[in-house]
Amino acid sequence: MNINIDNLQAEEFRLQQLANYLFGQSRASVGTSPSGIRLPDTGNVVNMKAPQTALPDPHFPSGGSGATDLAKLSTLSQLPIFDYMQYHQDYYFLKDRPVAQLPEMGNFPVDVLRKEFPILQEYVNGRPLVWLDNAATTQKPSCVIERISQFYRKENSNIHRAAHQLAARATDAYESARESVRSFINAGSSNEIVFVRGTTEGINLVAYTLGAGYLKSGDQVLISNLEHHANIVPWQQLRERIGIELVVIPVDDSGQIDMEAYKNLLTSKVKLVSFVQVSNALGTITPAKKMIQWAHAAGAKVLLDGAQSVSHMPIDLQELKPDFFVFSGHKVFGPTGIGVLYIQNDTLDELPAWQGGGNMIRDVRFDNTTYQNGHARFEAGTGNIADAVGLGAALEFLRTIGMHSIAAYEHQLLLYATEKLKQVPGLEIIGKAADKASVLSFTLADFSNESVGKHLDEHGIAVRTGHHCAQPILRRFGQETTVRPSLAFYNTKEEIDWLQDALFKLISQR
Ligand code: ALA
Repeated sequence: MNINIDNLQAEEFRLQQLANYLFGQSRASVGTSPSGIRLPDTGNVVNMKAPQTALPDPHFPSGGSGATDLAKLSTLSQLPIFDYMQYHQDYYFLKDRPVAQLPEMGNFPVDVLRKEFPILQEYVNGRPLVWLDNAATTQKPSCVIERISQFYRKENSNIHRAAHQLAARATDAYESARESVRSFINAGSSNEIVFVRGTTEGINLVAYTLGAGYLKSGDQVLISNLEHHANIVPWQQLRERIGIELVVIPVDDSGQIDMEAYKNLLTSKVKLVSFVQVSNALGTITPAKKMIQWAHAAGAKVLLDGAQSVSHMPIDLQELKPDFFVFSGHKVFGPTGIGVLYIQNDTLDELPAWQGGGNMIRDVRFDNTTYQNGHARFEAGTGNIADAVGLGAALEFLRTIGMHSIAAYEHQLLLYATEKLKQVPGLEIIGKAADKASVLSFTLADFSNESVGKHLDEHGIAVRTGHHCAQPILRRFGQETTVRPSLAFYNTKEEIDWLQDALFKLISQR
């Protein structure tokens, strides 16, 4: 791995900000040298030029001298509410740098970050909770929980509709969250950000509105074999309604898109390609940029499903250039019931309105109604204001940590977990693409997937078992269900060791 001094300085700056955020104390006030960052409660100094003194994950090779007394960090949630706007700055120095060029993230402050998640301190069946069901939903940091609480305590009002002070506060908070979303996915304009209930509603909105004019009987919509049901069923419903053809891009035996087949399917009949950036069932990272370029060259629009990618990797929509991008707040450390549909500006103005009601109109008369332009046209009625604000807080939290750092750390963790699982006799990993994120689907010989899930739960380890709302891709690999541990940046190598131990205990009963 190449270590580049610019990257080290960027990392130093980012970690300093993180330390300031978590501990409310500037580096200057703790008197460290310019190349080191002292985290006050642990006393650890991270020397970015030769990282070794540890933010403690003793399982990493460069992970330091041992575990910190984490009990000392228990005051995090009592810190003043984070000033989100203070961190609205672009880390231009991280842009366009591939993850592979970052330094080893042996100093990723996983144990400090875990303290931000109250639920991770829970015990389940007498064991510390090990949350490995992150593809289903992620846990929430204190800053998100407190931001929602603060909204209801100090800002609660409907938005855009009144002259009073609280309406102004609520509107500012909601629109600031929209800006946080824009910045997080690097959209060109906050006008392109529509708040929806989640990925499912976002895809349904696109299917409905494209089906009201742009798509016609006989047009083809391409989806991939990897799709979640939310990116299959709306297109089948559209097929029933207006007679589009739904065509499936196959995957190879590793679980990656068959690009040769994709190329051959991209004829002039194809008007939309809708596919996932990271598979929820296998973890495959699809070659999204290339697929989007090819689709556009063939004259088709593209919907990219980011439900499983946003929490694991940096997203740059101005580089990827999809026409639509969707994700859910709850899978990116934000609340349930809120999500995002990005609609690229040119497409935004072509689409007809979806749901009718307040907020989306410009003028209403009994004989005629005119609609708002931009995102407002798709936000009829009172939206989920508080949870949009909570989502904004989650994204600012992630930006403070740095998505490149998260991606690098999780990559190490996924490699480690894959090796550990391969050591379990009779365990078969389902989905072996070279590019994967976060997901480790498997089956275990002689045990039903449900019994594996129950056994792990007895050890405090939460994984999903079942079809993961992606039956076609599991059937492609001869399975109806799998056991699916899925990772987030707050998981540790120690937790993976516990997972392996629990599986060894189970197979000893064979
Ligand atoms: N789509 C979610 C999952 O993969 C629910 O588990």
